[in-house]
Parts: sequence; structure tokens; C-alpha cells
Amino acid sequence: MDFTGKVALVTGGANGIGRATALAFAGRGAKVVVVDRDSAAGEGTAGGIRQQGGEARFVTADVTKAADVQAYVKSTLDAFGRIDCFFNNAGIEGRVQPTAEYDEAMFDAVMGVNVKGVFLGLRHVLPVMLAQKAGTIVNTASVAGLVGTPGMPAYVASKHAVIGLTKTVSGEVAKHGIRVNAVCPGPVDTRMIHALEAQLRPDDPAAASERYQASIPSGRYTTPEEIANVVLFLSSDLSGNVTGAQWVIDGGRTATGGAATQAMQK
Ligand SMILES: NC(=O)c1ccc[n+]([C@@H]2O[C@H](COP(=O)([O-])OP(=O)(O)OC[C@H]3O[C@@H](n4cnc5c(N)ncnc54)[C@H](O)[C@@H]3O)[C@@H](O)[C@H]2O)c1
Repeated sequence: MDFTGKVALVTGGANGIGRATALAFAGRGAKVVVVDRDSAAGEGTAGGIRQQGGEARFVTADVTKAADVQAYVKSTLDAFGRIDCFFNNAGIEGRVQPTAEYDEAMFDAVMGVNVKGVFLGLRHVLPVMLAQKAGTIVNTASVAGLVGTPGMPAYVASKHAVIGLTKTVSGEVAKHGIRVNAVCPGPVDTRMIHALEAQLRPDDPAAASERYQASIPSGRYTTPEEIANVVLFLSSDLSGNVTGAQWVIDGGRTATGGAATQAMQK
């Protein structure tokens, strides 16, 4: 997994999984462009990479806006001349609310970032990779793209859509030397999971965290670095003919239906 001389573009790279992946790409030699709407944290990721002797730029962008997406693609080409690895990762969780009560504006917001943002990234990065006749793309879906989660209709619909986009695009570009895969994380130790804990148990988020982690066969949340490792593998030559695939990283939770028996024995 040597990315020396490669250019990696990471959306949602200011925090969480995107930040860990940007650092991991840089640690293995890639030049990195970090994209996010959170400018302070995004500059922090790029600055951290430069402090460790790597090359990185930060571009402020809202991934739901076509002009911003075109601008982050242009900035990457202006800085480094190509895009080898695209991690199409920015996302939001929305509210925990049953479908019968779900706020319409929140539904639009979640679909805007998680589906339109991912689509726009594909729409504007793919022409660059088609011209290069090479490239890898990893979209961040979720185990919520594979199974339902009561109380999260927008998020679940959006992540199922990311898997649909991944499968469709992979077939369109496979003959052009471009591979497109999805990662499907279960709960990962980032701001997002802690925000969900607070929504589910505002009185006692720590109790929600403990119960949730107990329902995972491995007994813990996944770390952002563990997701980054899979993203790097899917972006490397080691995954040569892997395309259109969805990679579950969830400590065994989805495979075992939430492992209710283990949760009850704790
Ligand atoms: N944390 C989890 O448990 C978990 C599980 C499965 C999937 N995911 C997915 O992983 C991805 C990363 O999430 P995370 O856990 O690192 O959360 P996070 O909130 O720490 O990071 C998400 C990043 O995306 C950025 N972002 C959000 N909307 C944006 C927009 N419109 N334009 C530009 N940037 C925007 C945020 O500023 C933030 O830096 C998301 O797609 C999320 O749905 C997370």
C-alpha cells in the first residue's frame, strides 16, 4: 500500500473517518487534498499532514453545491495535476425520528449531502479519471445502506442510494481502468456516533453508548483508523479487480443481526 506520487482527494476530511483517511493516505506517501465545509478543522487536517512532512491542501466546499464541487476538483488539478484516489465520504446523520413524524426539511438535508453530494463528486471527478484512464473511488455508505434502522428513514434511504450509485458507476467505468467501491461502516467512534447517542438518550448518552457497544460481537465501536485501512486497501493495487463491492466493517454486528443474545448475556 504505497501511494508515493499519487494524489488523494478526501471529502469530509476535516473530521472523523475522512480525517483519519487523509492522514493515512499522507502517511503512505500520497499528496492529499482535504475538502470540507468545516474550514478550521479542515485546515487542521492539512496542517497536520504538512507538519509530518507530507503535502496537503485544504479546500472549503459544500458538497451539495455543484459550483463548490467543480472548484474542489479544479483546485486539486491546479495543485497536483491529477486525481488517483477519490474518497467520497462527507455525510450527515440527520434526526432520529420515526418516519411518521420525520421533518421534511431534514429529509432533504440528509439526501442533499449523502446522495446529491456523493453524486456530484462522482459527476465531476469521473471525467478526470476517464481522461487519465485510471483511478479508484471509494464512497462512504454504511451498514445503514444494507439493513433498515427504525428511526433513521432519511439516513437509511440515503446510504442505500450510495450503494446503488456505487454499483451503477462501477459498471459504467470498469473497462476504463477505474474501480468504484463502497465502505459500509457500522458504528465508528466519531462525532457522528456520539451525536446519535445524545439524540437517543439525552439524559444519559454514556448508557446508550454502553448498550450499543455491548450489542456488537467485538464489543466495541470501530475506530476511524480501521475504516481508513480498508479505504486504503480498496484504493491500492492490492485490490486489483475489486469493483462494485460493498465492504462491511462493523465488528460482526450486521452478520449476526445485532447479536442480541450476546448483548443480553452481558
Ligand atoms: N460514525 C459512524 O458511526 C458512521 C457509520 C457509518 C457511516 N458513517 C459515514 O461516514 C462518513 C463520515 O462520517 P464521520 O463519522 O467521520 O462523521 P463526522 O461528522 O466526524 O465527519 C463528517 C465530515 O463531513 C463534513 N460535511 C458534512 N456535510 C458537509 C457538506 N455539505 N459539505 C462538506 N463537508 C461536509 C463535516 O464537516 C465533517 O467534517 C459519513 O458519510 C457518515 O455517514 C459514519
